[in-house]
Amino acid sequence: MTKKIKPTLVLVLFVLLSRTVVSVEFVYNGFNEVEPNNLSVNGVAQISKNGVLQLTDETSRVVGHVFYKNPIRFKNDQFGNNVSSFSTAFAFGIVPEYAKLGGHGFAFTISTSNEMKGARPSQYLGLLNNSDVGNFSNHLFAVEFDTVQDFELGDISDNHVGIDINNLESNASVNASYFSEGSSTKQNLFLQCGKTIQAWIDYDSSRNLLNVTLSMSSRKPSYSILSYHVDLSPILEEFMYVGFSASTGLLASSHYIFGWSFKMNGMAQSLDLDSLPSLPKPKKDQTTLIVATSLSAVMFLAFGLILALYVIWKFKNIDVIEPWELEIGPHRFSYKELKKATRGFRDEELLGFGGFGRVYKGLLPKTNNVVAVKRINHEAKQGLQEFVSEIATIGRLRHRNLVQLIGWCRRSGDLLLVYDFMPNGSLDKYIYDEPRVVLTWEQRFKIIKGVASGLLYLHEEWEQTVIHRDIKAGNVLLDSEMNGRLGDFGLAKLYERGANPSTTRVVGTLGYLAPELTKTGKPTTSSDVFAFGALLLEVACGRRPIEAKALPEELIIVDWVWDKWSEGAILEVVDPRLNGEYDEMEALMVLKLGLMCSNNTSSKRPSMRLVVRYLEGEVVLPETLSAPDEYDGKKSGASDMELEDFVPSYPSSSYLEKVSTWSSAYDGEGDIDIEANSARPTDSGREDNR
Ligand SMILES: *[C@@H]1O[C@H](CO)[C@@H](O)[C@H](O)[C@H]1NC(C)=O
Ligand SMILES: *[C@@H]1O[C@H](CO)[C@@H](O)[C@H](O)[C@H]1NC(C)=O
Ligand SMILES: *[C@@H]1O[C@H](CO)[C@@H](O)[C@H](O)[C@H]1NC(C)=O
Ligand SMILES: *[C@@H]1O[C@H](CO)[C@@H](O)[C@H](O)[C@H]1NC(C)=O
Ligand SMILES: *[C@@H]1O[C@H](CO)[C@@H](O)[C@H](O)[C@H]1NC(C)=O
Ligand SMILES: *[C@@H]1O[C@H](CO)[C@@H](O)[C@H](O)[C@H]1NC(C)=O
Ligand SMILES: *[C@@H]1O[C@H](CO)[C@@H](O)[C@H](O)[C@H]1NC(C)=O
Ligand SMILES: *[C@@H]1O[C@H](CO)[C@@H](O)[C@H](O)[C@H]1NC(C)=O
Ligand SMILES: *[C@@H]1O[C@H](CO)[C@@H](O)[C@H](O)[C@H]1NC(C)=O
Ligand SMILES: *[C@@H]1O[C@H](CO)[C@@H](O)[C@H](O)[C@H]1NC(C)=O
Repeated sequence: MTKKIKPTLVLVLFVLLSRTVVSVEFVYNGFNEVEPNNLSVNGVAQISKNGVLQLTDETSRVVGHVFYKNPIRFKNDQFGNNVSSFSTAFAFGIVPEYAKLGGHGFAFTISTSNEMKGARPSQYLGLLNNSDVGNFSNHLFAVEFDTVQDFELGDISDNHVGIDINNLESNASVNASYFSEGSSTKQNLFLQCGKTIQAWIDYDSSRNLLNVTLSMSSRKPSYSILSYHVDLSPILEEFMYVGFSASTGLLASSHYIFGWSFKMNGMAQSLDLDSLPSLPKPKKDQTTLIVATSLSAVMFLAFGLILALYVIWKFKNIDVIEPWELEIGPHRFSYKELKKATRGFRDEELLGFGGFGRVYKGLLPKTNNVVAVKRINHEAKQGLQEFVSEIATIGRLRHRNLVQLIGWCRRSGDLLLVYDFMPNGSLDKYIYDEPRVVLTWEQRFKIIKGVASGLLYLHEEWEQTVIHRDIKAGNVLLDSEMNGRLGDFGLAKLYERGANPSTTRVVGTLGYLAPELTKTGKPTTSSDVFAFGALLLEVACGRRPIEAKALPEELIIVDWVWDKWSEGAILEVVDPRLNGEYDEMEALMVLKLGLMCSNNTSSKRPSMRLVVRYLEGEVVLPETLSAPDEYDGKKSGASDMELEDFVPSYPSSSYLEKVSTWSSAYDGEGDIDIEANSARPTDSGREDNR
């Protein structure tokens, strides 16, 4: 099976003595990873066993490049001023991690470098970064196949093909489409459909005309979808590299190239899609093989490893005390104490694990208190320091609807946080998928009211405003009486400053992120309210704010609930697992309130004080609701824009976690960071100057 596709590569070099006309042609019908293939592969790009070039996988914010290794001569007249004609055809496939939510895209690229160091992922497509974008000295030409609409860059849609010159703001772009053979009617084409698509890019230097053609078949249609007049002579240098670049953002797609042909001064050979490799199968059998062969090696290495670990352990097992830590109150635990409490951080004591680290159950030796110990591994010293300096503050927050932080411990790269133990785990495990225990409406309503009052305390009732930043079902813990308690307040802050000081990150979870947060990167009390709105809806509906398993029109909870509300069938969204046993007035109130909190305009959301008053029945909710798609007074087009800006440019990972462990609140499972910077260079620039 793997042997079948033999890359047929033809390289023809004609060097005509007098005029140094160089003609290069190559054809890859699949790529062979073993034979010398004349490709330069970097970033996360790789060639799979069966000959598919994979530019990116579904990891967030990565870049992959593949270039033809040798530079190609693009200027061949005697003065070296005129660019030659060129032509290329390639077959590609884009497979998003979650249907319809993919990112970002890839580009056929002609560049002065075959490495593209310093290029950024997300909307920069691995081609440029925020400092060199638009600079004429880039000498970059690319044709992008982009599945995210970025407004900074003036993208026309989240499914377009664009011509990029030294910039990612396309000079010309069209929605992806194709003409089927012998037909002059354009058909839409969904780039991230996962099927093999063939693209042709032809540049005719005598007419300064660049054409882009797409098709779902092996034959080239007679009509191209994009024809652009441009003289590439000032753009391209004499020698350039050709290849592909792809990137993922917070949401990710796998970008594949199945075959590629290229020709200078002539028409590139079209690819026969049937003879190309197809997507790699899940690598099951391969794993067993690796396990078997590496077993003996493992034995051999084990001894050395044990030795090394011992040395590391000796080194690391020292509490790190820094001067600033000494100034903080009395909540500091010794590492030894916590180690004993958790019985050496035994797996048996593990309550959960995720983005922020592992959480262990512990029994404090002195007091016999049961606690949850969250072990955060954090490389960035600075963020940690800022956070620890706030622990004293956070430790003083006390409310029956907050999970109490009891103390902390700092040891080399680890931060250990000690919390009250919550015997009933986190709320998410009671509302998503098939919960073991279905909460009754009374329980849900009580939890909602509790969380609202905890959040009100953070926002308004303590001596200073505390923004939670990561409200979600996984961060609501249930005590022994099934009261809702907010956990992890302030922790998200730790992650807002990334390792790279020039990036500001927004930490949050997809589906709970207020739209403005993605623009400004500044969490506010009203971005907390937005997340609380999503929480209200999911508790009432018994599903995630973004449910990949749902029908497309039900994907995003706010839209779905709003649609039902407009249809006058709002109660249809109430969790069917309740079997109709709920207080209709309360359910109606929770849903309406959820919609109000989910307002796209932050100033239109109610304050937590008002939310609590509604929930306590002190104030009656307004009868009518304004349409959630009226964004800043603009009509529905504008809200689409926001949606696209919001969803696909935002993080991927967590909202579809398969396993909901004991407490994702303790473990921070599903936390995502967004580089607000990369979405808005100007904003973060401002931040940094402060
Ligand atoms: C790579 O290029 C060289 C010439 O530069 C050529 O001889 C060789 O055949 C090429 N590799 C493959 C796999 O065709
Ligand atoms: C480019 O080529 C055209 C003919 O193909 C010629 O007329 C023109 O002078 C050339 N330009 C330069 C700058 O060499
Ligand atoms: C941007 O990219 C260029 C080269 O492509 C690199 O020299 C520069 O350091 C990068 N800038 C940043 C801020 O990464
Ligand atoms: C463009 O890049 C060059 C070389 O990297 C640099 O000297 C120049 O300042 C840049 N121009 C702008 C407008 O950033
Ligand atoms: C289009 O390309 C030219 C270079 O040929 C460049 O000067 C111009 O800024 C580009 N326009 C847009 C809208 O990107
Ligand atoms: C591209 O497609 C979007 C919808 O996907 C549509 O709103 C937009 O009008 C289209 N643009 C063009 C130029 O056809
Ligand atoms: C580009 O498209 C135009 C119009 O569709 C056509 O006349 C021309 O021959 C095409 N050129 C190439 C190089 O494909
Ligand atoms: C919640 O915890 C209490 C005390 O541990 C226990 O009795 C009760 O059964 C738990 N409830 C649920 C729904 O798990
Ligand atoms: C937000 O609320 C205001 C006032 O109630 C309303 O006019 C607007 O349509 C709402 N917008 C959204 C996006 O919910
Ligand atoms: C604005 O409201 C619309 C309609 O509910 C929704 O689809 C969209 O996601 C919201 N915009 C943002 C940026 O959240």
